[in-house]
Amino acid sequence: MVEAKRVEASGRRVRYMNIGNPPAFGFQPPAHLIDAVVRALRNGENGYCASAGILPAREAIAEEYSSRGWAVSPDRVLVTAGTSEAIELALTALVDPGTNVLVPMPTYPLYTAVLAKLGGQPVYYRTDPSQGWTPDLEHLERVVTADTRALVLIDPNNPTGAIYSAEVRRKLIAFAERHGLPILADEVYGDLGYDGSVPPLGSLAPEAAIISLSSLSKGYVAPGWRTGWLAVSNTARLDDVVSAMRKLADGRLCSTTPTQFAIPAALKGDRAPQRALREAMRERAAITTSMLQAMPGMSIVAPRAAFYAMPKLTLPPGTTDEDYVLALLRATGILVVYGAGFGMPADEGYMRIVFLAAPDELREIYTLMGDFTATYLG
Ligand SMILES: Cc1ncc(COP(=O)(O)O)c(C=O)c1O
Repeated sequence: MVEAKRVEASGRRVRYMNIGNPPAFGFQPPAHLIDAVVRALRNGENGYCASAGILPAREAIAEEYSSRGWAVSPDRVLVTAGTSEAIELALTALVDPGTNVLVPMPTYPLYTAVLAKLGGQPVYYRTDPSQGWTPDLEHLERVVTADTRALVLIDPNNPTGAIYSAEVRRKLIAFAERHGLPILADEVYGDLGYDGSVPPLGSLAPEAAIISLSSLSKGYVAPGWRTGWLAVSNTARLDDVVSAMRKLADGRLCSTTPTQFAIPAALKGDRAPQRALREAMRERAAITTSMLQAMPGMSIVAPRAAFYAMPKLTLPPGTTDEDYVLALLRATGILVVYGAGFGMPADEGYMRIVFLAAPDELREIYTLMGDFTATYLG
């Protein structure tokens, strides 16, 4: 970002393909969500609310999970400032200094950042690009320790666009149960599978210890509202974790009140805008996959959800993913994020692309990128 600002100051247009912020590309929340928030503001809903969140929102969240096969009760739901605060509450409740958490590689960087703050360690497990970026169960078995406190699953995945099969999900749950680990199921992209919403992980094993994390940010295009939630499975093993998270939530009084009124509107209202968003992403994913595959030295696993892809470039010997990304930025103004930012080895040549731009602009960007890459590789 620092280099992009410098490139921009020099007069070159920068194409920001680095952050998953749909409104920056013209996508907006559905009108009925905006109406619900405006109504709440005008109706005087401007005070603190219950620290766990307003009851209609918690009921709508519990109903949504239950209707998808995972029975959750409203008193095991907390409304949070985005998935981000849900991640922070869950990790804070579970992690003590010196303990560790299993996080995917590549990962969403907030997990490792929060662990650093808590004095916990991330233990990376492999996800395998040759298997559509699914978690490597054998590797998980090798890296889990007696001090492991939780397993993080990001499904559908950022940065890879993967969706795990029901078979893989069942094996992951069995692994976690065998080791007595709660699963933090980051399901913030659950409604953005190109073939439809992905069932919540909990629907495969209602008795398992699962904390699902999600928000209005992606599937409902309202990231700036900072409104999300967590839901905890109905197992006594997680009762203490629920109490700890409630206590932490009490300490920050509540999350933003008026935007919570959009949650029932979102979960019980018209899903047509979400279907249109999925179709828009499917089209952009297809353009991304075919144009990246055609670039010299580049390979890509086709994304199946959300708006991210994690292609790999065969780098010239002795160079890093960061070298390529900076050279691409300086030569073309295209900004992507190098794989090492997600925990990948810097010499493997991975990068993450956010493909929210309009189809014609994406074609233009990938043409520039292909020409640059051919020159870069000589
Ligand atoms: C996997 C993942 N989890 C959590 C978040 C944070 O989302 P929120 O805006 O709901 O805090 C993101 C945002 O990009 C994400 O990709």
